[in-house]
Amino acid sequence: MTNVLIIGASGNIAKQATTMLIEEGLTVKALVRDAGKLSDIQHPNLSVFEKDLEDDFSTAFEQCEQVVFAAGSGGNTGAEKTLLIDLWAARNAVEYAKQHGTIRFTMVSSVGADDPDALPSAIRPYLVAKHMADEHLKLSGLRYTILRPGTLLDEPGTGKIQTIKPESKDDVVIPREDVATAIVKAVTSTGSENRIIPLYRGTRDIADFFKPTRKRFAGSVTE
Ligand SMILES: NC(=O)c1ccc[n+]([C@@H]2O[C@H](COP(=O)([O-])OP(=O)(O)OC[C@H]3O[C@@H](n4cnc5c(N)ncnc54)[C@H](OP(=O)(O)O)[C@@H]3O)[C@@H](O)[C@H]2O)c1
Repeated sequence: MTNVLIIGASGNIAKQATTMLIEEGLTVKALVRDAGKLSDIQHPNLSVFEKDLEDDFSTAFEQCEQVVFAAGSGGNTGAEKTLLIDLWAARNAVEYAKQHGTIRFTMVSSVGADDPDALPSAIRPYLVAKHMADEHLKLSGLRYTILRPGTLLDEPGTGKIQTIKPESKDDVVIPREDVATAIVKAVTSTGSENRIIPLYRGTRDIADFFKPTRKRFAGSVTE
């Protein structure tokens, strides 16, 4: 049995999360389309599963307790890949997880996925894809956590976040490393089950937002 299947594991966030999950002592199956991109991580707790998400990737889900979907078509591709990866591959992952009895699903979504009409039209197709994938997960019956980070930064994480959206667009940001940490918290604790958690750079420990308490911090959204 593998503890966590991480989809899109060669990505900037997911690769950091993969290393962190292994450091937590978990066994990780990394789904990538190019195994060479993970050749710098060698660990007995890591297995690599090579598959393109545009194909049937259901066999990756065999014997996996949890799933993290952190893949994305990226900003340099068009609407076709947005549809096929951010929406359809994410939707398929939810279906495969159900078929294989996966017990929990963590989705890396995006700020703005709650209301795609509220942001500039250029990214609306992407936000619609994220929105529909999130809705599919919410209705799946799986125990889920949906993470909705702001604009991603390639700078060291601070370990601190806030979940209330900042007023200034310049502050609607978060280091990728902090998103990776949030993934690990979602996987290793039960406090974020069936919740949507926005992620912005802030001042509170990430772990605080993943605690299984009755009273949530203001701004941590429960839907
Ligand atoms: N950019 C932002 O500001 C922002 C903000 C909020 C949320 N997000 C979301 O955050 C998530 C992760 O971001 P990131 O920066 O870590 O992304 P990233 O570095 O672009 O990683 C995306 C991953 O998806 C994989 N992928 C894409 N198409 C695939 C396919 N057909 N088959 C298999 N794998 C495929 C990529 O594989 P390869 O390595 O082979 O290309 C890569 O591993 C994405 O879902 C993104 O939409 C982004």
